[in-house]
Amino acid sequence: MSLQRHLAQRRLRTQIASIASIASIASIAHIPASRPSITRNAINSCFNKHIAAARRHHSNTSSFKHQASSHIPSNSQTSQDQQRIMSDKLVPANPADVMVIRDITPNITTLSVPFARFGIIDVGGRCTIVRMTGGGVLVFSPVALTAEAAAVVTRLGGKGGVKYLVAPDIEHHIFLSEWAKAYPAARIIAPQGLAEKRAATKGKNPRVNINDKFFAVLTDKRTQPMCEPQSIAPDFDADFGLVYFDMHPNKEVVLLYRPENILIEADLMFNLPAIEQYQRVDPATRRGAPDRANLANRIFQAVMRTNGNLVWARRFQWYLASSSDRARFNEGLRVIDSWPFETIIPCHGETITENAKEIFRGVFAWHFASKDA
Ligand SMILES: [Fe+2]
Repeated sequence: MSLQRHLAQRRLRTQIASIASIASIASIAHIPASRPSITRNAINSCFNKHIAAARRHHSNTSSFKHQASSHIPSNSQTSQDQQRIMSDKLVPANPADVMVIRDITPNITTLSVPFARFGIIDVGGRCTIVRMTGGGVLVFSPVALTAEAAAVVTRLGGKGGVKYLVAPDIEHHIFLSEWAKAYPAARIIAPQGLAEKRAATKGKNPRVNINDKFFAVLTDKRTQPMCEPQSIAPDFDADFGLVYFDMHPNKEVVLLYRPENILIEADLMFNLPAIEQYQRVDPATRRGAPDRANLANRIFQAVMRTNGNLVWARRFQWYLASSSDRARFNEGLRVIDSWPFETIIPCHGETITENAKEIFRGVFAWHFASKDA
């Protein structure tokens, strides 16, 4: 490699690392153990299983297009306890006053709230509540448990309450304990390392109960190929496909809600700028409002976007998100690509209800075009 090319690559890596430091996403990168070799036939066989399962569910359920609706809760009263624990720079102190509750389908409702990374980058936060076929709900990436959020659980889950609480990565876990306390029968699903991370905060974060019991811990560095379905429990497996990106810096859990072909994910793919999540916030008080964003927010929005010029989004995914084990990352993407999803609900930014598969392929175009894909 020529010196000039080497220096150019080093400059690019430095620029990307600067952006990553804003996201705090590169600080926990890990080097995976070497993987056992997997034959192409074995992988294809695995994907065929996924596709067959998805088709089975698809044909057994009525696929429908739905007009999503959002409703703003009128009751903005929060408990004293909530007020006490909801006060720092990252999350709103008055969650009920700013939460946007939206029915994506009759079976899925999202709770969107403002969330500023480091208090300055407006990425927004979103919790997704999903009605399970056998009763109860699954809660993906819990946000503040307001009275209105609890009402959604009752509306969708009935007497079944919360069956599963999913910490979708090692960053989105702050409100787990609040929900686990309110719904003690809920089974917590989390990535490996989260329990240890929470234990290390002992006494420092009043929201985190380090004694919460995890029902399923997704294991890092599995010897199975990514396309091998992960089983959590029969009722979970019946409704959800799951891919765990253990090589991602944040260790991402991605779900497919099979009955309605909806992809639910956290940090695998942002869709900025965040608009819905700030719908109830005065734009004049924001740093990241699309038409008046400051420099840090403009940079972040340029990287974490899904349309327009995607070169920085692709560089981010290529050089940072997937660099520790790109071949395995690609395997995970192929599993997702084999799912017939029509909607993507991310935790950060806007929900994608049109051309979801095409947008997903666009963001990860370099991965799908690479020789490992
Ligand atoms: Fe996140």
